[in-house]
Amino acid sequence: MSKTSKGKKVAESKTIMTELIMPNDTNPLGNLMGGNLMRWMDIAGGICAAKHCGNHVVTASVDHISFTQPIHLGDAITIEASVTRSFNTSVEIYIEVFASDITGENPRKSNHAFMTFVALDPKTKKPCSVPPVIPLSNEEEKLYEAASRRKEIRLILAGKLKAEDANEVRDYFDRFPKR
Ligand SMILES: CC(C)(COP(=O)(O)OP(=O)(O)OC[C@H]1O[C@@H](n2cnc3c(N)ncnc32)[C@H](O)[C@@H]1OP(=O)(O)O)[C@@H](O)C(=O)NCCC(=O)NCCS
Repeated sequence: MSKTSKGKKVAESKTIMTELIMPNDTNPLGNLMGGNLMRWMDIAGGICAAKHCGNHVVTASVDHISFTQPIHLGDAITIEASVTRSFNTSVEIYIEVFASDITGENPRKSNHAFMTFVALDPKTKKPCSVPPVIPLSNEEEKLYEAASRRKEIRLILAGKLKAEDANEVRDYFDRFPKR
């Protein structure tokens, strides 16, 4: 196990990143391009995951992202990334994006996503084990508890787990006719 086998608190790897939206970040309407935001989310999530794992990580998957609130040229955004749970070699990271005017006016949550990162052994470049997460607050407990269901769903959707082999979400997939 990498560095800390006893486990790490969520706060130990929490990562906060702030960006000012510049002309080169926007589309012709003056709104932040979705792809630029996803890149920053990936960076913040990757730093958070690497801090928790104590190793380099790669992005294994990004769950659904909706862009509900436009972010404009000149806005400031804050991206907050926190680990929710670790498994054997992977960690799930919860990423929230908040936007406001540069003066702090018009604050709003823009979007959120769950991302999965896998820690790689520096020598072999193969997946390696990661420290457990110690959830403390009610919110951290809730995110921790549901993470195993989210993991099963994303592995089923990625074609890496058969629905009938899932432990927690099998019944949900059983409602659909088999192909
Ligand atoms: C992610 C990667 C290391 C997984 O390798 P693999 O050979 O499939 O390894 P395994 O099957 O042993 O899975 C390792 C872990 O990855 C997780 N994983 C694999 N595919 C996943 C997916 N699509 N979504 C979420 N987690 C996934 C597994 O659940 C497992 O986690 P666990 O050990 O905590 O249970 C490999 O697919 C890879 O290198 N992908 C490219 C990563 C990359 O370059 N990202 C940047 C994109 S430009």
